Amino acid sequence: MSDRYIAYRLLRKNFRGGLYGKDFREAFSYVEEKAFFKELVYGVLRRQEYLDWIIDKFLKKKDIPPSIRVLLRMGVYQLFFTSIPAYAVINETVNMVEHRGFRGLVNAILRRVSEHGYIEPKELYIKYSHPEWLVDYWSSFLPEDYLKDLLRYNLTPAKVVARVNSRKIVRENIKISDISFTKHSPYGIIFNSFDRSPWELEEYKNGIITFQSEASQIIPLIIEFNKGENILDTCAAPGGKATHILELADVNLFVNDISFQKIEIVRKQMERLGFKAKYTVSDARKIKEKYGKIFDKILVDAPCSGFGTIRKNPEVVRRQNYASIKKLSILQKEILDATWSLLKEGGELIYATCTITKEENTEVASWLFKEKKAEVVDIRKKLDNYGVRYLWDGFGALFYPEEVLTPFYVSVFKK
Ligand SMILES: C[S@@+](CC[C@H](N)C(=O)[O-])C[C@H]1O[C@@H](n2cnc3c(N)ncnc32)[C@H](O)[C@@H]1O
Repeated sequence: MSDRYIAYRLLRKNFRGGLYGKDFREAFSYVEEKAFFKELVYGVLRRQEYLDWIIDKFLKKKDIPPSIRVLLRMGVYQLFFTSIPAYAVINETVNMVEHRGFRGLVNAILRRVSEHGYIEPKELYIKYSHPEWLVDYWSSFLPEDYLKDLLRYNLTPAKVVARVNSRKIVRENIKISDISFTKHSPYGIIFNSFDRSPWELEEYKNGIITFQSEASQIIPLIIEFNKGENILDTCAAPGGKATHILELADVNLFVNDISFQKIEIVRKQMERLGFKAKYTVSDARKIKEKYGKIFDKILVDAPCSGFGTIRKNPEVVRRQNYASIKKLSILQKEILDATWSLLKEGGELIYATCTITKEENTEVASWLFKEKKAEVVDIRKKLDNYGVRYLWDGFGALFYPEEVLTPFYVSVFKK
């Protein structure tokens, strides 16, 4: 089976789950030209609106089988965004057409696209391949420079970033080739090239590094965790921030997630790093039944629409819609409502999302402020110290997208 054919099968599966998703991982382990395979799969997902726009320009009848559309997207992507000669792209793509009756059509469309050359669209949403509603929605509340950077960065794959375990080593002493350091997180390393599975690295197996985005690394750095404190991480899987908290301080950590399978992942990560925690599997909205008012700090890294992770999960933009944003914001308020009662007086709650919506960020934070008479902790100085640029909404901060740093929203409240 050729690498292209494996990519086609994966893309036909309505691929979900991001770079480290199971389907992708399995396929990635088979293919020979790993860098090309990754570029092709992610490139097609990332440029979908643009590719469809081009394809539709040359199609008489737009109603073609989904498998043919996937092949056309793959073909057009390679014609415009790789240096593979057109004749090779066209031949390889036509050979993959299973419905023989469509071979002529695929051949003709790709030939015409190739002869015509790249076409620059006027509309932002096509140029940057996002759903139109999303670009309109963002334009309604994001400053122009934020939106421009966001759309531009979303077309480029996220860098593979890891956190160095500060209990074991400082990042300056790490012996991995071709890495650089993150600008804001003092623990982050960036892999400049990556053509094998990250899990094969000895440094990963030995608990020296943990794969985690730079933005995610910043969240636990915003507040101080002290020895002996009771900390609850309500939505903890896969454990990126939970393990980070234990690298930072000897606290009593309670980790919870709604999914049993995902809690097992956290447990494995803790074992890999040599940490201990207490585990529960519960809907965070019902967590009151499990604990009393015993926590000094609570992290609610909430389930969210995930628009800050588009560079890693390009399909996210097509999975979410305005109705799902509204639904998630209700869930987030319900989680905060339940967990706030577990916080000691004077304790702090960190609310974070990896998304860019008013409903899930500012509106949820302002709800907590009003409903619970929560005191807003001004985290701006902390963020300034790490050199993070953000938009401040009076409650929390939304990180600006950068070359490596991806958008995250964070707010801290005191009881
Ligand atoms: C953004 S992820 C958390 C990431 C994690 N904190 C980290 O740093 O690795 C959100 C998590 O919330 C969990 N989740 C979703 N709904 C939940 C609920 N009602 N109660 C508890 N956890 C929930 C999901 O299973 C998912 O693991």
